Amino acid sequence: MNFVTERDKISLLENGFLEREIDPELDLIDEIRCLKEEKNAIILAHYYQESEIQDIADFVGDSLQLSQVAAKTEAEMIAFAGVHFMAETAKILSPNKKVMLPDLKAGCSLSDSCPATVFAQFKQKYPDHIVVSYVNCTAELKTLTDICCTSSNAVHIINSIPKEKGIIFAPDKNLGAYLEKVTNRKMILWNGACMVHEIFSKEKIIKLKHQSPEAIIIAHPECEEAVLNLAEFIGSTSQLLSFTKKKEFNQFIVATESGILHQMQMANPEKIFIPAPPNNHCACNECPHMKRNTLEKLYLCLKYELPEIILSDDIVLKARNSIDRMLEISEKAGLK
Ligand code: 13P
Ligand code: SF4
Repeated sequence: MNFVTERDKISLLENGFLEREIDPELDLIDEIRCLKEEKNAIILAHYYQESEIQDIADFVGDSLQLSQVAAKTEAEMIAFAGVHFMAETAKILSPNKKVMLPDLKAGCSLSDSCPATVFAQFKQKYPDHIVVSYVNCTAELKTLTDICCTSSNAVHIINSIPKEKGIIFAPDKNLGAYLEKVTNRKMILWNGACMVHEIFSKEKIIKLKHQSPEAIIIAHPECEEAVLNLAEFIGSTSQLLSFTKKKEFNQFIVATESGILHQMQMANPEKIFIPAPPNNHCACNECPHMKRNTLEKLYLCLKYELPEIILSDDIVLKARNSIDRMLEISEKAGLK
């Protein structure tokens, strides 16, 4: 197809027009593999992606692992099957590479809950405090942050800060409250939350546990305290996945986005995984932002090298410090 301008191409992509034009006979998996090779591109996918995307990715991981890979890859191009803040992090770490996100509208409620301009004013009230931000935030917020963290390294990051230093933690109040408990440290918490993790139903999880008492409840620290209190193990997506590989447990109730069940089931084909239900009519909990990415959009993104993540040099420079500090602390602690 010939496009008049680059803008036309973006607009057709964004409006789903090019998706409808894909030949249904096309073997998308094959096409994606060829494009990847031809363009020296790497596909990074978060655990919450559709299983077909996870299966074709070069690397599947949690937020920390994906940023570590993005920082080191030799590929010329990164197609990031995840959400906007993750692709931004990859761009900040690899500013000279082309970073694409299959659907630019794949946002994040947690990231949206903390606009940088509002946070900048809030931060002024605590001039002596260190700002630790969960990596689930915009590049602008990262420029106002001293150290980033992910759910895999958050405890280490908080413990690395001298005890006498005050901390502002943004944007997730649930992860913040969990960290306060584990590190025995009071922090100033921003009032944000993840729309997926805050709607698990405590009552339905208790009911499931009664039905399957041998099932171990495992939860992501973005869940509310009432759900975390039921959990027998709490961890980031990769930590939850590792936990399910332990020989002594065979059945799990999993309180995080249900995309992770794909890797859990592949690693443990004989074990039983029950997704924890949310407080609505659904049986499992999916992130609508993560699920905006499809195989079709991934194919188009590699074909047209769009939509691309563009950040100003100034943002990249200022945001990079907070991510570099996080990666340094994680490396020292041997976290992967
Ligand atoms: P992790 O992959 O770091 O556990 O984060 C979960 C999440 O909510 C990503 O959006
Ligand atoms: Fe954001 Fe929650 Fe979706 Fe992760 S699961 S991308 S934190 S809305």
